[in-house]
Amino acid sequence: MAEADVTNRKPQDEVQALFEPQGVREEQTPRTDAEGHGERRPAAAPASPESAPPQAEAALAPIEEPVVSPHPYATKLREQRLAKEASGHARRDTLLYLDGVNKSFDGFKAINKLSLVVARGEMRAIIGPNGAGKTTMMDIITGKTRPDSGEVFFNGDVDLTHHDEAAIASMGIGRKFQKPTVFESHTVEDNIRLSLAGPRSVLEALFHRKDQAERDRIDAILETTRLTEKRKLLAASLSHGQKQWLEIGMLLAQDPELLLVDEPVAGMTDAETEETARLLREIARTRSVVVVEHDMSFVRELGVKVTCLHEGSVLAEGPLDQVSADPKVIEVYLGR
Ligand SMILES: Nc1ncnc2c1ncn2[C@@H]1O[C@H](COP(=O)(O)OP(=O)(O)O)[C@@H](O)[C@H]1O
Ligand SMILES: [Mg+2]
Repeated sequence: MAEADVTNRKPQDEVQALFEPQGVREEQTPRTDAEGHGERRPAAAPASPESAPPQAEAALAPIEEPVVSPHPYATKLREQRLAKEASGHARRDTLLYLDGVNKSFDGFKAINKLSLVVARGEMRAIIGPNGAGKTTMMDIITGKTRPDSGEVFFNGDVDLTHHDEAAIASMGIGRKFQKPTVFESHTVEDNIRLSLAGPRSVLEALFHRKDQAERDRIDAILETTRLTEKRKLLAASLSHGQKQWLEIGMLLAQDPELLLVDEPVAGMTDAETEETARLLREIARTRSVVVVEHDMSFVRELGVKVTCLHEGSVLAEGPLDQVSADPKVIEVYLGR
């Protein structure tokens, strides 16, 4: 018995040397139960490595366990689980999280391993040449298009690939398409009122105007969208830019946590474009905004982090000055 101990010590010490750092660093070693409920279990001896001789004693005692437990497959599973947990933790703090997203149309890769993370309260500008996949990315986020593969999460752990457009809209993702779609034959304020209406019928929304809270919200939205003076006019009489603002107002009425806006300033006058940048900056104080836009002076006005897409992937990301100075970006986008 004593002899067996002596002969075993050398190889065990070597094995110990291999496994000990792992055991010391990671509390997960005792988490053999699949749920990982043992997480809080004190890491026993490794936590206090002060006195050398007792530790050497203690180190010998549990040796037999690590020698048998880390089967290569178990180790692999554990590493996979830890990686998944780590990405889950990183994801949990995000509002919008896309990773490794792919989408092909008839063999053409419109979205190619796309990864994008938007923080809560962040406004992000998305630029990129025509056909880069900007609109398709929004289609994927809003459930209009289902990706072939990849992760799309909202608010950390809501898997958007499992929900349809209506469900996603009701979760708090509002989307503004390129063309304004307002009710032309209604007044500006009724357009907002109808969007606030929610489950109530249109008639109720139009004829029961007694709710003060609702009136306050309409006033606030009209103010934000620079339409207070125009509230009694028919939407049909607004300029193109004002119709875009009205539609943004109609989205605000639904109080989205994330607002996606596709090319809002296309066709606007310079003055309207500048006002739109101010307007979106105001909106972004209380919610996240993702803006797709070609107009570089507008993107500059936004003053936010920029992501440049190309062929369905992120080509460059960072402050506009950095992105626009990137030779890859100049080649595919600015210098075209
Ligand atoms: N429904 C679809 N069917 C086929 N091809 C599509 C479809 N939607 C987008 N595409 C293609 O995917 C590419 C990306 O388009 P899109 O996302 O609209 O680009 P962007 O908005 O950046 O200009 C384009 O080549 C486009 O033709
Ligand atoms: Mg587009």
